[in-house]
Amino acid sequence: MTVVVVGNPKPMSRTRAAAEMVARKLTGVAPQHVIDVVDLGPGLLGWGDPAVAAAKEIVKSADSLVVASPTFKATYTGLLKLFLDQFGQGELNGITTYPLMLGASQIHALAPELTLRPVLVEIGASCPAPALYLLDSEYETSADLDKWLGLARRFVPQVSS
Ligand SMILES: Cc1cc2nc3c(=O)[nH]c(=O)nc-3n(C[C@H](O)[C@H](O)[C@H](O)COP(=O)(O)O)c2cc1C
Repeated sequence: MTVVVVGNPKPMSRTRAAAEMVARKLTGVAPQHVIDVVDLGPGLLGWGDPAVAAAKEIVKSADSLVVASPTFKATYTGLLKLFLDQFGQGELNGITTYPLMLGASQIHALAPELTLRPVLVEIGASCPAPALYLLDSEYETSADLDKWLGLARRFVPQVSS
């Protein structure tokens, strides 16, 4: 099962579209679940909210996970951090995970590798491919994406149905 997590305060964003596209191109099928973190609302500000707990269970049942954020001030969003903070250290238990960030400028192209990947690893994700950065203006046609897919596809677990 492939799950997409999108941490953008704006629902139904380009970041979400890009993450769904990346998941589809990686695995050959549309993701079974897309969690637009903004839909979880104020429950993210405390602990034990039932909708947040349900979203966590979906994430933990993934074989492949795409975690996506727009770039805000050179890093991933605070909204995404609120969701990731709900996981304990190591809780993802080695789920194959692909960090993805969209940005307006190439200047922050290392942000997913340097900022998003470490927090995912802290909560137990296994991130075998380089983290992916796409320009918002060309995420659908990026040559970087094709190159990255060539690297990343080899790590997709063959257990999804
Ligand atoms: C508050 C804020 C901060 C941003 N900071 C950056 C930044 O540091 N670097 C960058 O490349 N783009 C930055 N951007 C642009 C967004 O990352 C970019 O447009 C992204 O694709 C937006 O995704 P969306 O279309 O899914 O909302 C910023 C946008 C906002 C609203």
